[in-house]
Amino acid sequence: MRVTGGIGLSPNCTGGKMSITSFNGGQPSSARPKVTTLTIQEKKHRREPITCLTAYDYATSRLVDEAGIDMILVGDSLAQVVLGYDSTLPVTMEEMLHHTRAVRRAVKSALLIADMPFGTYQGDATEGVRNAVRFVKESGAEAVKLEGGDKRVDLIRRVLDAEIPVMGHIGLTPQSVHKMGGYKVQGKDLAGVEQLVKDAVALDRAGVFSIVLEGVPREVAAMITEEVSVPTIGIGAGPDCDGQVLVFHDILSLTFAPKAKFVRRYADGAALIRNAVEQFRTDVETRNYPSDEESYHLPKDTKAELDAILRRKQLKAYSR
Ligand code: KIV
Repeated sequence: MRVTGGIGLSPNCTGGKMSITSFNGGQPSSARPKVTTLTIQEKKHRREPITCLTAYDYATSRLVDEAGIDMILVGDSLAQVVLGYDSTLPVTMEEMLHHTRAVRRAVKSALLIADMPFGTYQGDATEGVRNAVRFVKESGAEAVKLEGGDKRVDLIRRVLDAEIPVMGHIGLTPQSVHKMGGYKVQGKDLAGVEQLVKDAVALDRAGVFSIVLEGVPREVAAMITEEVSVPTIGIGAGPDCDGQVLVFHDILSLTFAPKAKFVRRYADGAALIRNAVEQFRTDVETRNYPSDEESYHLPKDTKAELDAILRRKQLKAYSR
């Protein structure tokens, strides 16, 4: 027995029988088949658009999964949208594992991908493989994503040798923010286009199951999508990619920042939450919450016994 919000009641109050939780955690159900890396690749061959969203916790992941999204990415954007850092660089392996575990408990059907955080794979390849293995073994991820093209090929082969599917990520790679000199659209000149195509082909040959194309001109994304055998998943890369990914907090206006050009906001989550929280505050301050209907009551016989005791006490007090 538990009361959501942590108000413990002794089992004596309820006989230990009454369920007083409004939280149905732990058992998400699924009406659709499990999405695997093969499903994703088949979708490209059938020219069916692939959907992907980020998610970082149990409740929102469950909603994203139940909405039928193909892939859920526990992105290192967690650093910014959940942890409040100003870049993705500070988030740690332990923080990513912690959130991926929560998402794992919610997700039944979508393919679950964990983003390898900055500093956990850029150095020693053995360490990179070890960290990729941790995501699968300790948090239940089914694939990992890592940033970089050509130069990651050896690492990607080793991670694949460890039986872990890899999603590539090229273009505007946020972990390279300092090297790029800011968050800038990549592949705007011919040298840049050539490098992106080279990177995409290298990733494809290395055996990734999909490639995120972030912040690249539509024309370049279209060219790469035609060129590679695996699905391209665009974010700020135009409509010609095989699929699209967006950050959960972006589509719900929960980022406290002006939206980027490529973001489409599907709801004003900030306004919704603000209104609900302000209404709660007002209701408590005006004693409008909780009502009698929102309160627990003693069982009739206990109430009668208690009233009798109180009456006897009162009579005793009067007779003194
Ligand atoms: O961390 C993230 O959210 C990402 C996606 C935007 C692709 O890498």
